[in-house]
Amino acid sequence: MKKILVIYFTQSGQLHKAVSATLKNLEKDSEISVQYENLQPKTPFPFPWSYIQFFDAFPETVQGIPCEMQPVKFNPDENFDLVIIAYQPWFLSVSRPVNSFLQSPEAARLLKNKKVITILACRNMWLNAQEKMKVHLKKLGADLVGNITYVDRSGNLTSLITVLAFALGGVQDKFLGIFPKYGVSDEELNQSAWKFGDLIKDRLKSGDYSGLQQQLVASGAINIKPNLMIMEGRGKVLFPLYANFILKKGAASSRGRRTRVRIFGIALPTVILLASPLIAIISRLLPLLFPGKTKRETDYYSGTELR
Ligand SMILES: Cc1cc2nc3c(=O)[nH]c(=O)nc-3n(C[C@H](O)[C@H](O)[C@H](O)COP(=O)(O)O)c2cc1C
Repeated sequence: MKKILVIYFTQSGQLHKAVSATLKNLEKDSEISVQYENLQPKTPFPFPWSYIQFFDAFPETVQGIPCEMQPVKFNPDENFDLVIIAYQPWFLSVSRPVNSFLQSPEAARLLKNKKVITILACRNMWLNAQEKMKVHLKKLGADLVGNITYVDRSGNLTSLITVLAFALGGVQDKFLGIFPKYGVSDEELNQSAWKFGDLIKDRLKSGDYSGLQQQLVASGAINIKPNLMIMEGRGKVLFPLYANFILKKGAASSRGRRTRVRIFGIALPTVILLASPLIAIISRLLPLLFPGKTKRETDYYSGTELR
């Protein structure tokens, strides 16, 4: 019997849906047991979020400051053959509940010398969060052997609007009747997720994960757009600076930092809106001007290594 532990957090259920679509055939296999652990913060994060709550979560998320978590139900000393960490990026960082779990003593006991596969379901900006995840896993002595990312396939500006309608307005369906539904499409999950799972299944049985990520990439498990690579590059530098600027004015949800949070809540969507067209042009030119570098970066972010 091969044992998989899936650690996940989800607000709307999207991430759970993505994982179970991936593991569809593994769950049916009598030689495999799949155990799910739904991480729960002591104080739940709101969903839908109010405008202030949403942007107030930014500084602690970016700086990786842990929140209190409810005790986990799995036994961290049990010898799982594979651990799947399913998470979403928040503000280009690992979402706060998952990030908090990764800093717990249970994570240290569970993940040491374990094979790990990460699965993300998000809007479309996950590169920086995954880099942070790689750093955590390296520190914990875990071996990252695969990564699958499910993203919203709409254009960047469209999904910026629909993710905000979704997270702040709780709009699960077509926003205003004209925008596409936010999130990872059910069709994509039904059609291709199980294929990625089947690749994992073979490796789980043989115990040999070498070359798995290349296979996943070749099957379409990773999708990277150069313009988002550039945008994330800017965010990676600027976000920690602004997070510290807010943190200086007080702890989470304190009144003292509210003005700075509000400014951020206006500035972030505005900057994305204004910068997007320019970055879209640059990103079309980059692969032509610097084909080698663009390919190297895309290959790097498609992989599981940490540079
Ligand atoms: C506070 C917050 C910040 C987010 N930041 C990002 C981000 O930086 N990149 C991204 O691709 N998606 C981002 N998202 C969207 C999430 O990755 C995810 O798609 C959404 O929260 C639904 O996931 P869930 O219901 O499974 O938790 C963010 C969502 C929230 C709530």
